[in-house]
Order: sequence, then C-alpha cells, then structure tokens
Amino acid sequence: MTESNKTITVLGAGYVGLTTAALLAHAGFTVYVLEPNPLRLNVIKEGKSFFFEDGIDILISTAIENGTLIPTDSYTESVPKSSIVFSCVGTPDNPDGSTNLTYVFSAATSALECMQQGAIFAQKSTVPVGTGTRIETLFAESDKNIAYVSNPEFLREGTAVYDTLYFDRVVAGGKDHTSVEAILAVYKSLESHRETIATLASINTHERTGTYIATSLNSAELIKVTANAFLALKISFANSIAKLSDAVGADINEVMDAVGADERIGRKFLNAGRGFGGGCFPKDVSGLIASGLEYGVQMEIMTAAQDVNYSMPGYVAEKLIRGLHTDIRGSHVAVLGLSFKAGTSDVRKSPGIAIANLLSKSGAIVSVYDPQSNSEAAEHLDRNINIVESMEAATKDTAAVVIATEWEEFLGCDLASLKEAMDGSLFVDAVNRFDTKELEKHGFSYQGVGR
Ligand code: UDX
Repeated sequence: MTESNKTITVLGAGYVGLTTAALLAHAGFTVYVLEPNPLRLNVIKEGKSFFFEDGIDILISTAIENGTLIPTDSYTESVPKSSIVFSCVGTPDNPDGSTNLTYVFSAATSALECMQQGAIFAQKSTVPVGTGTRIETLFAESDKNIAYVSNPEFLREGTAVYDTLYFDRVVAGGKDHTSVEAILAVYKSLESHRETIATLASINTHERTGTYIATSLNSAELIKVTANAFLALKISFANSIAKLSDAVGADINEVMDAVGADERIGRKFLNAGRGFGGGCFPKDVSGLIASGLEYGVQMEIMTAAQDVNYSMPGYVAEKLIRGLHTDIRGSHVAVLGLSFKAGTSDVRKSPGIAIANLLSKSGAIVSVYDPQSNSEAAEHLDRNINIVESMEAATKDTAAVVIATEWEEFLGCDLASLKEAMDGSLFVDAVNRFDTKELEKHGFSYQGVGR
C-alpha cells in the first residue's frame, strides 16, 4: 500500500462519519474527518465526540494523539491526499417527506474539485435510489476518472462503535468492480484490527465474521432504505396488533414472544410501544414513499406504517388521560425519557417529546427528565413543560408517570420509592418493559401499550 492508499477523508462528522473515521484511524489508515461546523470541530479536536456514544471518546482522543485522525474543515488539506473519500453528510427530510440532498451534492462537488486522479468516492449517507447515478453524471464531466461506490451504513445510535466493528454485512455497489472491492477491503482491515479496537473502547469482543456483499449501484442504494423500512414496518405492525390486544385484553409481549419464536419471523423489532423515532426510520420511510411516487410506484404499505407510527404518541397520551380518572387539566404528570431510544442523547423525532407536548397541550402540568438529552430536548418542548435534573424531581407529587425511553435508570428504579414520591398511582409503560404484576404489587395502576 502507498501512503495515499492508506489515507482516507470522511466528509461529515455526524454519528456515521465520526464513528467511521474514529474506527478506521485505528485500522491502519490516516483519516481526515472534515466537519464544517466550528463548534463540532472544536469538540472533536479536543478528543471528544459532540454526541453521547459508548466507547467513542477514547478512540477519538488516542487517534488524534497518534496522528492517525486529523479533524479539519478544509477540503484542500484532506481530499487531495486521499485515495478514498467517504461521504457521510446529513440528509434531512424536506417538508414533503422527500430527502434533502443539498449537502450530498455540495460535498460531492467540493470533493471532486480536489480529488486525485482515479480516487474512489464512497457514499455512506442514506440517499434515495437513483442519486448515485446523478452524481456519476457529475463526475463524468471531469477528466479525473473518479469511481462512485454506494456503501450504505447500518449502524445504530447508542451501539455505533459495536455495530461498525461487528457488522453483520458490508454492502458496496457500483459499476467499477475494482473500486467496489477496494471499499470492501477497507472493512477487511477494520475486521483484522477489531479486537484491539474493542478492548480500547471497552466494548465486548465477539467471534463474528461479517458478510461482504458486492452489488450494483442501484441495488446498494435500495438495500439501505429497504432494510430500515422493513424494520419500521415490523414495529408499526406490532403496534397495530398492540391496539387490538388492548381492545381484546391480550398481552402484546406474550403474543410477539410466541409469534417471533417462529424463525421465519424472528422476535427482533416487534416491540410495541410509543413508536419509532430517530434520525433514520421516520426519514427513510417518508423517503421511500417519495421515491415510489417519483417512479410511479404507490408504497401503500409504507404509508400505513407511517400512519400507525404517527398515531402512537397520541395513543399513549390518551391512555394516560383515560387512566387518570380525574381532569387532566391541572394534573401533575411526569414523562421520563426524551431521547428517541436509550443509549443516545439524540432527540430527533422523539416519541417522548411528542407525548410530553401532547399532555401539556391537554392542560397537564408536565415535568420531564432524561439522563442524557435534557438540553437537546429543551428547544423541542412546549414552553410550559418543566425540565428537571432527576427522576425524583420529575415524579414528586405527580398523579401519573410515563416511561418513554428504556433507560436502565428507569427500568431498574426503586418502585417502592417511586410510588411513595408520587401523589397518584398511574404508571404508563410506553416501552412495555415492566413486570405488570410487580407494579401492581407496589400499588400502581399499570397501562402498557397492548398489555
Ligand atoms: C436504525 C437502524 O436500526 C440502523 O440499522 C440504521 O443504520 C439507522 O436506523 P437507530 O435509528 O439508531 O438505527 O435505532 P434503532 O435501534 O433501530 O431504533 C429505532 C427506533 O425504533 C427507536 O425509536 C426504537 O425505540 C424503536 N423501536 C425499535 C421500537 O419501537 N420497537 C422495536 O422493536 C425496536
């Protein structure tokens, strides 16, 4: 390998970009991580991540010390030295649900200006199918012979380091076979360094060999959104059955445990509750619907999944209002959990925030608490909502409590003390993780979603 073959630039230091950069910087590569936001860049230069993610800070700080991770905001400093450029820029959704590709195209255009002859541009951002072909047309206008490869990302927030190290599969798709193989080889290097990296990041090590899948460009683009859309579909399906479970007095957890025991179905992503949030599922579902429309294909199944998901925070709020047996107006209630899931400070499309806002609009006096995302949540919360610094402060003298995120702090809480601190007894388990009998033993009146 030449020095240039070992140098990579990662465009964008979000969850995907920063995790990818930090790990590759420990896998035999020199990695420039390019971040235009000065606030984020300064945090990274100090050897930290600007988001909460298990194990990542130590990987960033040691790689910066070793000189294998170089944070920068300059294309000219980083891109010309790199044989591979990974694009991991943001793809927010447009108001109509389609994907906003402004950053994707500006990153590709800026990189193209400085890329070396014959370099590879690998797309990790989630883009609608057909985007790669448009970027290839752009690249064809230059005489640099840049290969375009779609290399979708499957990491989950909260377990981003683990997922990137111990991947199930790596997908790379493109016209140029050699470039596709070169991208797969980057992950083979990562795989060969993973025990050392896992130990440094205090992540449990595993014996697992990832699968390497080479595809066409359009297939790779479609694989990413299809995988996320299918998982979202499973959750909305579970939530539909949960509503029926409520109506007939069944327990959705019992139902899904037995249904998921069928290997053809599988138990994962069948947990009913307050619905899915985050930076991926809601956007990927709406993006797929928009892609369908663009190509004249109605994605009714995804529209239904989206509708069910929209309905879930309201369904939870309604359960609380009905279970209260007194007027919601002026009642004190607590919502615990504002991140879209445990293990992250990310509050994008967070069901906990939606539930808190709905209860506040109904006239309740709402207190909220999250172990990691209080400050990120603040700007999305109704201004009447009290954001407090502990579970105790949130639940003191409340008539009801809602658990909206499955943080260990909530799942393992002392139920006797919680009951003692509250003024009422309504316990709304919007993550379906509590033992109903245990709660009833402590004098709570339990409401799950489909339980
Ligand atoms: C997801 C995909 O899992 C990942 O492969 C992709 O790269 C990015 O999108 P992420 O958004 O980080 O990852 O979180 P994930 O763990 O998948 O959960 C998404 C949402 O679904 C969360 O709000 C979670 O609470 C919810 N969920 C998940 C359920 O409501 N029920 C389930 O059974 C599983």
